[in-house]
Amino acid sequence: MDKTILVFGANGNLGSHFVYQALEAGYTIKAFVRSPEKFKLSNNPNVQVIQGDATNYRDVERALKGVGIVVSCLGNPPKKKTYIMDKAYQNIMSIVSNQTIPPRCLMISSIGMGGSSWFVKFILQRIGGKEGFNDFEKAEERVLKEKDVPFVVIRPAGLTDKKGNGKYRIITKPTVFFPKFISRSDVAKFFVNCLSDTSFDGKSVMIQGY
Ligand SMILES: NC(=O)c1ccc[n+]([C@@H]2O[C@H](COP(=O)([O-])OP(=O)(O)OC[C@H]3O[C@@H](n4cnc5c(N)ncnc54)[C@H](OP(=O)(O)O)[C@@H]3O)[C@@H](O)[C@H]2O)c1
Repeated sequence: MDKTILVFGANGNLGSHFVYQALEAGYTIKAFVRSPEKFKLSNNPNVQVIQGDATNYRDVERALKGVGIVVSCLGNPPKKKTYIMDKAYQNIMSIVSNQTIPPRCLMISSIGMGGSSWFVKFILQRIGGKEGFNDFEKAEERVLKEKDVPFVVIRPAGLTDKKGNGKYRIITKPTVFFPKFISRSDVAKFFVNCLSDTSFDGKSVMIQGY
């Protein structure tokens, strides 16, 4: 199996947990970042840093060349009213779906998307606004409609920076309860597990803390 992973959002809070854990697990990382100077692991021999903007088609196309696995830990820039998710996922999915053998794509989303929790949807729209929510939901839909790309859409509950305990709970049905918060480290662990476990391929998966 090709152990090279292109990580979008590698400089982010979740993305940096993922990069650390994936390196520990023996993978090679292509870190797609806007600001290479902020990336802390550029000296690691198993890391290649690629500077780019995920909303720029050519940047994404260049980065995706020869990649076996794609991980997205992208997020809309906080408090900026700038929405990048839909455009970024449009770029990624349109390029990978045209490849002869599309890479597996593990894509961040959120509980609340796709009717998974009306309660969380209400809260997210209150906090981030309807525009931000709609951008994120459209991004997710772009992945879910792909028939020829092996993907997992990962919808975590509210994220924390607490130390992870290596555990999480999968939620299989739309939830009416407020899901338990989960640490970014444990979400990253689920991403790493999905690199070798294909049982969630073609699905959206909700996870919460244990
Ligand atoms: N907070 C929650 O409770 C919660 C719950 C469920 C799901 N989520 C979702 O989980 C995801 C990860 O969260 P997080 O806390 O790790 O977010 P984060 O720290 O803000 O990371 C987002 C990353 O996306 C990158 N990015 C933004 N625009 C970009 C662009 N145009 N091109 C390339 N990279 C770009 C950022 O790059 P820079 O480093 O250059 O800014 C950053 O590295 C987000 O999508 C979030 O909405 C959050």
